[in-house]
Amino acid sequence: MALTRLTTVDEIPENGSYLFTVRESHGTEQEVILVKQPDCIEAWKNFCQHETDQRLDRGMGAAMRDGEIICPKHGSMFNACSGDCDNGKAEGLSLVPVDISVNRGVVYLTDDDCEYLHDGGIDDGDDGMPGSSSHLQF
Ligand code: FES
Repeated sequence: MALTRLTTVDEIPENGSYLFTVRESHGTEQEVILVKQPDCIEAWKNFCQHETDQRLDRGMGAAMRDGEIICPKHGSMFNACSGDCDNGKAEGLSLVPVDISVNRGVVYLTDDDCEYLHDGGIDDGDDGMPGSSSHLQF
């Protein structure tokens, strides 16, 4: 199983998200957000379930409140740990999970369907520069 180091637990914002880009097994580039709550660290594909072209993190971190990720378009809130939504336009829908693991404070991408490409959003890869601020340390 592929194992790619993403970042450290300490570097994931408590209010916001760590954004990175992967290539899925069928070749599509996809953005993923990593979120941290007191009782979980999870990774979700960076789109709303109501309108799947709506990004949750537009490059400045997802809006979060009380453990919920807030969709910037219609305000549906998704539980950051379960991915589930019980309100608004996305009620009854759940975010799409990406497999990660945490070992000694380091977060690894372990999803067989996702190959790590770069830090930041899809567009951040075009100029060869990492997005916003690079959290990667080699
Ligand atoms: S696009 Fe997210 S709630 Fe409508």
